[in-house]
Amino acid sequence: MDNNAVITIRNLIKRFPMGNDFFTALKSVNLTLNTGEFTGLVGPSGSGKTTLLNIIGGLDSATEGSVSVLSHSMDNTSHNERALLRRKHMGFIFQSYNLLPVYTVYENVELPLILNKVSPLERQKKVDQAIEWVGLTDKKNSRPATLSGGQCQRTAIARAIVHQPDLVLADEPTANLDAENSHHIMKILVNLNKEISTSFVFATHDEKIMGYLKRIIHLEDGMINKDEKFERTK
Ligand SMILES: Nc1ncnc2c1ncn2[C@@H]1O[C@H](COP(=O)(O)OP(=O)(O)O)[C@@H](O)[C@H]1O
Ligand SMILES: [Mg+2]
Repeated sequence: MDNNAVITIRNLIKRFPMGNDFFTALKSVNLTLNTGEFTGLVGPSGSGKTTLLNIIGGLDSATEGSVSVLSHSMDNTSHNERALLRRKHMGFIFQSYNLLPVYTVYENVELPLILNKVSPLERQKKVDQAIEWVGLTDKKNSRPATLSGGQCQRTAIARAIVHQPDLVLADEPTANLDAENSHHIMKILVNLNKEISTSFVFATHDEKIMGYLKRIIHLEDGMINKDEKFERTK
């Protein structure tokens, strides 16, 4: 296996039960992603992007084939082992932000560090740094209901990267945002990819995102039909 690989997927098949039958959402997917890559899983709605991202994140499991993430085999691992891997080494960004409404920006971002038992002093340093990265220092005591969509997503990004994970998975992170906010979010993520050398995988069908991706894996009907790499200067 490639030592530099963050994700190695071999002959992955995913079937969902449907009545007395099943539906095959992923049909023999093979994929290797290396450390520091900035990759998009791109394809029309229903092509299997979220299913693949969820399997990479250990939120769902393969029906057949093997999946290895951050040198951990995801085949036959327990729910708890996967939860630990996620908590320590991964960050998640969702279309709908998934912020806790009663918590402030600061408290939402702090949560992964509390779960990882980081000391209060260290927590404060990391939370302040993450909030600064996404440009929300002046909003750190605000609650999500008082923020714009773009500010909510920036909070979610800070939460996803505050523990400096090895891998960030983002499912349609710009789907609820206008063009200006989408570009702003992508610029922040490109910078983070450089600064903390975290690997990013996006699921998206947003054309605005494409120009930022360094690798685009095209999915159609549960299969990879194209894999492109790009040099980006920005
Ligand atoms: N839990 C499920 N049960 C049955 N079918 C599912 C389930 N999740 C996804 N699917 C089906 O698998 C296909 C791929 O879905 P998904 O991965 O969500 O696509 P995308 O994110 O590219 O829009 C779709 O046809 C969807 O209806
Ligand atoms: Mg999806």
